Amino acid sequence: MKQKVKKAIIPAAGLGTRFLPATKALAKEMLPIVDKPTIQFIVEEALKSGIEDILVITGKSKRSIEDHFDSNFELEYNLEQKGKTDLLKLVNDTTAINLHFIRQSHPRGLGDAVLQAKAFVGNEPFVVMLGDDLMDITDDKAVPLTKQLMNDYEETHASTIAVMKVPHEEVSAYGVIAPQGEGVNGLYSVDTFVEKPAPEEAPSDLAIIGRYLLTPEIFTILETQEPGAGNEVQLTDAIDTLNKTQRVFAREFKGKRYDVGDKFGFMKTSIDYALKHPQIKEDLKAYIIQLGHELDK
Ligand code: G1P
Repeated sequence: MKQKVKKAIIPAAGLGTRFLPATKALAKEMLPIVDKPTIQFIVEEALKSGIEDILVITGKSKRSIEDHFDSNFELEYNLEQKGKTDLLKLVNDTTAINLHFIRQSHPRGLGDAVLQAKAFVGNEPFVVMLGDDLMDITDDKAVPLTKQLMNDYEETHASTIAVMKVPHEEVSAYGVIAPQGEGVNGLYSVDTFVEKPAPEEAPSDLAIIGRYLLTPEIFTILETQEPGAGNEVQLTDAIDTLNKTQRVFAREFKGKRYDVGDKFGFMKTSIDYALKHPQIKEDLKAYIIQLGHELDK
């Protein structure tokens, strides 16, 4: 039966060890790209796609995420008194959202995190959005990847996983698909989904990139899913099992993906975003040109 996709899950229980010590007391999802926490980009992509309810799966040291999307009366009153309407709008925009939170007390992997959303999702198709992958954040006109998956669902009524070609030597950092044939307009049927294969064993260079549209049957599989790669309960393994009983497609993303889960990726994202930021883009351009001259010396 065809149902509308209205709910999104954002797993955010990871420890963020790659950004220590910054993430000792602060959720990694709150690290800002210039002036916006990374998780806010994800929430904005969900809203732009037409998602109505978002569940964030959190863990220890993640209170700042809940506070960020909560109202802050003192701050709002202060901005209002000072007539800072632009800033007030930015603050108000973060609270006008149907956000729900649940804590994963014993993180056992992405598959286990998604399983925590079972009661929230019920018997509907839903999307999973990973916080380390930001898509097209400097292109307002692009169709959000989540929306692309929702459009596919309208046609196929099937689970669809976003993938992207990555350099072959990097495949072991991802879930990878074995596509059936060439795909039609970027949509592939899939033979198998493999989590973190060694490059010599990878069935392709098409990697899973953190946006999933899933049917609720995934939960029954996750309930008995054994730990896989890295001794964690892997969502990819459950998707591979789902694909054996109902079709699971892969949608190739052609836009720009930013990996903010890695220090260099985070820097590149910050620079690209800053180069489009109305308040600082000109100064940053001049600075980069000057830096280039200095490095050439
Ligand atoms: C997770 C998924 C993996 C996917 C990746 C995308 O891995 O398990 O299949 O390719 O996200 O970012 P992680 O990066 O959490 O190790």
